[in-house]
Amino acid sequence: MSDIPIEDLDLAAATAEHETLAAAVREHERRYYEEDAPVVSDAEFDALVARLEAIEARFPNLKAESPTQAVGGKASSKFEKVAHARPMLSLEKVFTEDDVRAFVTSVRRFLNLPEEEAVALYAEPKIDGLSLALRYEGGDLVQAATRGDGRVGENVTANVRTIACIPRRLTGAPDLLEVRGEVYMGRADFLALNERQAAAGEKSFANPRNAAAGSLRQLDPAITAARPLRFFLHGWGEVSGPLPPTQEATMRWLGEDLGLPLNPLAALAPDLDAVMRVFGALEAQRALIDYDIDGVVYKVDRLDWQARLGMVSRAPRWAVAHKFPAEQAQTLLEGIDIQVGRTGALTPVARLVPVTVGGVVVSNATLHNEDEIARKDIRVGDTVVVQRAGDVIPQIVRVITEARPAGSQPFVFPDHCPICGATATREEGEVVRRCTGGLTCEAQVVERLRHFVSRQAFDIEGLGEKQVKALWDWGLIKGPGDIFRLAKTDAESLTPLRNRDGWGSQSVRNLFAAIEEKRRIPLSRLLFALGIRHVGQRNADLIARHFGSIEALAETCLGDEEKRAQALAELQDVDGLGPIVVEAFGQFLAEPHNETVLRDLIAELDILPPEARAADSPVSGKTVVFTGTLERMTRDEAKAGAERLGAKVSGSVSKKTDIVVAGPGAGSKLAKAAELGVRVMTEEEWLALIGA
Ligand code: IVH
Repeated sequence: MSDIPIEDLDLAAATAEHETLAAAVREHERRYYEEDAPVVSDAEFDALVARLEAIEARFPNLKAESPTQAVGGKASSKFEKVAHARPMLSLEKVFTEDDVRAFVTSVRRFLNLPEEEAVALYAEPKIDGLSLALRYEGGDLVQAATRGDGRVGENVTANVRTIACIPRRLTGAPDLLEVRGEVYMGRADFLALNERQAAAGEKSFANPRNAAAGSLRQLDPAITAARPLRFFLHGWGEVSGPLPPTQEATMRWLGEDLGLPLNPLAALAPDLDAVMRVFGALEAQRALIDYDIDGVVYKVDRLDWQARLGMVSRAPRWAVAHKFPAEQAQTLLEGIDIQVGRTGALTPVARLVPVTVGGVVVSNATLHNEDEIARKDIRVGDTVVVQRAGDVIPQIVRVITEARPAGSQPFVFPDHCPICGATATREEGEVVRRCTGGLTCEAQVVERLRHFVSRQAFDIEGLGEKQVKALWDWGLIKGPGDIFRLAKTDAESLTPLRNRDGWGSQSVRNLFAAIEEKRRIPLSRLLFALGIRHVGQRNADLIARHFGSIEALAETCLGDEEKRAQALAELQDVDGLGPIVVEAFGQFLAEPHNETVLRDLIAELDILPPEARAADSPVSGKTVVFTGTLERMTRDEAKAGAERLGAKVSGSVSKKTDIVVAGPGAGSKLAKAAELGVRVMTEEEWLALIGA
């Protein structure tokens, strides 16, 4: 973000900066709302929006195309869409007592209130979760929807029915009642969930909010049911029948009479002093409350006033969010460690002299990536400002440059993996640098081996993630070639597998047989199994077809650098293979460790050339989509069969789709096919067509 004072910007500079900022805000919103995986702290995001708004205040024409005019997040395509009867709004943010005073003044001015008329505000914690609209008809919970973009959200009813504290039936409710509130996860529950996730080898969540969002937006309600989600009421939408006259009385009615979960920390503040006391009290309690709150929301208590105040663009005029300042402290940056993730991403982590930030001792902070280090010019030996915002992972906000020791040097990000020594590369347009050591890098090998034996790759029965991890831990397999020597290694071992926990004689025999069976493997599967970046099944197939055999591939691509360059140049010309794929493939081969792995596999395996494709089959050149349950074959078999006959298999229906093969339970794809007039057939009809 630029720090040029707004007054100094001319229209051209403002337009350019606005465009960059707007794109960044949209991207962060997408990551936050749609992927539940933000990459910046709330405070950093707020700063970007604040700068965007400041530019727009001076150049209002820029507003038209700005993310400031919409509530973030689109409804995800996973769930059915639900239009909100009344929009779900967002809140204006304020940061200081003066801002709160200005809010009250603007309310007063708008309502034309006399000086002596007090404006009571209903204050409650701003919970860091996600908002949810619950629709009750005749007292029954009939629908639950996320906010989405404020007008259209996602239907998550089945999942919400599994949340224990949300009543499925209300007694004494009006015919129609839509209540709104926040779904969240407690901090202790979040930590326990992450531990369970890690133990199961599943992804862990960055913070309780993401955990709540990820848990709610599950296609399988059983998963949501197993996640400790909670809910607090904070408002309502459509309601039939009259409401009490104030926010407080209505909340009490909903909470105490109807039994919806009401936050006990909410309070009515008759004047500004009282408001600031509530704010101070909640800020002081913040670390002790078992869930994340990032501020206090104030709502004008009188509902008739709320109605008169109405809303502007995306937020009500009668409510405001008073955000807590981020908790910060200064400390010394002792070092920058580079961690290598399971997929090879190099992540810099700041090693700090331990310091207490908001009641928690912090000794590490994320540095995100090398650009971030360069942008903030963070150097080892610097005194830095550390911040814990709503996030669990602390961040480095800035360097106290005045305290920088003489002779300090900018941080040089390594271009080799600190674990295995392989080259670490960064693709154009990417912020992450990745180790190319793949199958030979200790940080990645278990993940890579798991991929290597997975269903679409070698598909070795009885060799799942757990077994791979165990075999690796015991030193029985270090790389993929070792899998095919396992029977021999085991026979020579003093503690053979059959005597180890979790392995019986029969299962070991079965495993060895399953491995033997996969010694014969099509070239494309082998290429896919290697886990080369960007080389998925389709690209692996294209590469395999181009070379025609492993011998041809080895002859041109292994060993001789010049020959390889030539081979890669030719690969570029293959229809469907982009330069990014070819570059990634080339980088993989250029790494000596990888060449060793590949040569080792060639020696162990019987690698089959690609089958010739039938050019004149009735489906050759056609794009096919399989949807619903197939009864005579698995999805993979259907796909492989279609591809063998020269068809292209796609996962989604579009204008380019020629045939949709629909089994029982087909849903939105079938509807889309009907809408686009695409030919639809049953599995039987498909089998008849291809003559199977
Ligand atoms: S009131 C019309 N109250 O904050 C006002 N929102 O930044 C609508 N939130 O979308 C919201 N705690 O998801 C309200 N006590 C609270 C809240 C709260 C958290 C969330 C909510 C809203 C977002 C706006």
